[in-house]
Amino acid sequence: MMKNGIEKITAVSLAIGLALSAATTTQAAPYREYTPLPPGGLEPGVQNDFSGSYKYWKDGETVAKYAATLPPEERWKLNAKENDPPVNEALHGGHIAMDEGEAIYERLNANGQFAKCLGAKDNDLTGLRANHYPHYDAKLGHVVGLEEMIERCAAKQGEKLLNGSHNNSAVSIYIASFSNGMPLNVDLSDPQLKAAFERGKKLFTQRGGWTNFSCATCHVSLAGKKLRGQTPTTPYGDAAHWPTYRVKDEIQSLHVRFTECNRNSGVQPLKVGSKEYTDLEVFLSGLSNGYPVVAPSLRY
Ligand code: HEC
Repeated sequence: MMKNGIEKITAVSLAIGLALSAATTTQAAPYREYTPLPPGGLEPGVQNDFSGSYKYWKDGETVAKYAATLPPEERWKLNAKENDPPVNEALHGGHIAMDEGEAIYERLNANGQFAKCLGAKDNDLTGLRANHYPHYDAKLGHVVGLEEMIERCAAKQGEKLLNGSHNNSAVSIYIASFSNGMPLNVDLSDPQLKAAFERGKKLFTQRGGWTNFSCATCHVSLAGKKLRGQTPTTPYGDAAHWPTYRVKDEIQSLHVRFTECNRNSGVQPLKVGSKEYTDLEVFLSGLSNGYPVVAPSLRY
């Protein structure tokens, strides 16, 4: 008798529980949850890295020292900077793309209008990547990254250089090479860029997809921890070396990398050049403020 009673109550509460959880799944999707920020938050400036790894990759000399001494399980602390020159000067696809980018750039800039459209003064590309992108474009009324502007300015010269395409990234790498060694300097005192940075931070921590992961699940909570044979690293210092040559033999832009990370975590990728990806680009660039630009670069 007693047993039956308990069973009845359990069955009823189970039914209520199921009904409630069904209601919860339809009303409050997991998409709305956020990964908590690490202690100290995700503040701009490469020195604010939360993972404690910055001291291992702060400059080339330090990277070389630790690349030779760190045991395998601690190599994530190098933040993949051991692949940057001068540590590794071997020729790779990034160099080929840079040369291709130069040829395309020269063709597009025959009348000097392409460079001017990108914001260069007197055809001088020095510092354009480090100091001028991403920025708020008052005429367009939104924040733009370098690759979006390459597409827009090429179109004015009658050529299609789609954001995310090989040729667009090749031109971007060529332009970035004129900022080599110059610290990334995104002006976050500009209210439009600051707002984009904050939106990007929110997107970075917003969970989604069937895994219910956010970018921060991997790049903050799981940074330095094993994840199906890979070890996610800190998002600090990443934006300074993109677009990059991926050793799967692909020249990849930062936005295309976002689509790959989205796909890997079961999240619907967004459009390359979308407002959301541009906000993420501003956020990651802010986290890399103070870190030198590397072009061409290589990543696994
Ligand atoms: C399932 C885990 C996971 C999620 C979620 C994830 N990533 Fe990644 N991501 C990785 C791994 C692993 C790598 C390769 C190792 C590394 O560089 O951290 C990587 C690499 C990257 C890189 C290249 C780093 C470099 O220096 O070359 C960027 C940029 C990046 N992720 C951004 C993002 C963004 C933005 C999101 C959210 C839209 C995201 N990731 C979500 C696992 C993840």
